[in-house]
Amino acid sequence: MWESLLDALRRWRYFAPRSAPRTKAQAQAALQKDVHLIERALSLPTPRRPFGDQVAQRIELVMARWAQSLDPGLLEQAAQALRDRTQWNESGVRPSAQRRVAENESENLLVNRRSTRSFLASPVPLDADLEKILAIASQAPSVSNTQSWRVRTYRDPARQEELLALQDGHSGISPIPLLLLVTVDIRSFSGANERNQMWIDGGIFVQQLLLAIEATGWSSCPMNFSATNSQAARLRKIAGIPGYEEVVCFVAMGRADAHQPASSLRRGVEFLRGN
Ligand SMILES: Cc1cc2nc3c(=O)[nH]c(=O)nc-3n(C[C@H](O)[C@H](O)[C@H](O)COP(=O)(O)O)c2cc1C
Repeated sequence: MWESLLDALRRWRYFAPRSAPRTKAQAQAALQKDVHLIERALSLPTPRRPFGDQVAQRIELVMARWAQSLDPGLLEQAAQALRDRTQWNESGVRPSAQRRVAENESENLLVNRRSTRSFLASPVPLDADLEKILAIASQAPSVSNTQSWRVRTYRDPARQEELLALQDGHSGISPIPLLLLVTVDIRSFSGANERNQMWIDGGIFVQQLLLAIEATGWSSCPMNFSATNSQAARLRKIAGIPGYEEVVCFVAMGRADAHQPASSLRRGVEFLRGN
């Protein structure tokens, strides 16, 4: 309890406010999220046209207020997103995504997996396909090999709608051939020091799942379940998830159609020398 309270205090101190960002780090994250809102919208099967006035205004505000101190690569991405939005709104033309160059097949899988938000109606992944994918995903590492993950599947569109009504981030995605819900069983963990281990193991499992989906010729989109306890309680009730499981996220999967996924360009990862 005490450790959770300390966690809460640190989040309270450093999380970004819902209104305008107060620090450079918060401004950078807010800008990245808004840039993604535009690229995400332009990767949907049928984006609204015109769209995005509010998000464009927010981007312009952050750029004007923080321009001097933000990452130049991100500022260029933001300017490009604004141009892409204008091009779509004025002439209905979407941006084209570029494939990353890789030196071999394994690197290609790792650098060119993208979140797909537009699926073909068929083929639909069968149970046998999913079994193969989960066998690969189960090779994910976990603390002391605890493997606390669980995966639930939903095919019925009405059932998916009922669950996704509690999720913020599925709007505009095409009908989902197969919806997965990944949870972790917290009974696998003990002690204050393992209080966050479920999120680490669950997150690593989800990444291995996404790569397994890609490696077997399917595509996917992880879909957040960033929820308060009361929102999670509603999902638990509808999906019959016991109190000892935490919801990590949804994953939509199927065969990608011809729409380009969002490019979601990456900043480099700096490493800090510790010696
Ligand atoms: C935990 C998690 C939750 C996500 N939730 C959503 C979501 O709700 N809706 C969505 O369209 N994309 C969602 N995404 C996809 C991200 O937007 C995407 O991974 C990011 O922009 C990087 O792009 P890429 O996956 O195509 O490389 C989520 C990704 C993660 C890892």
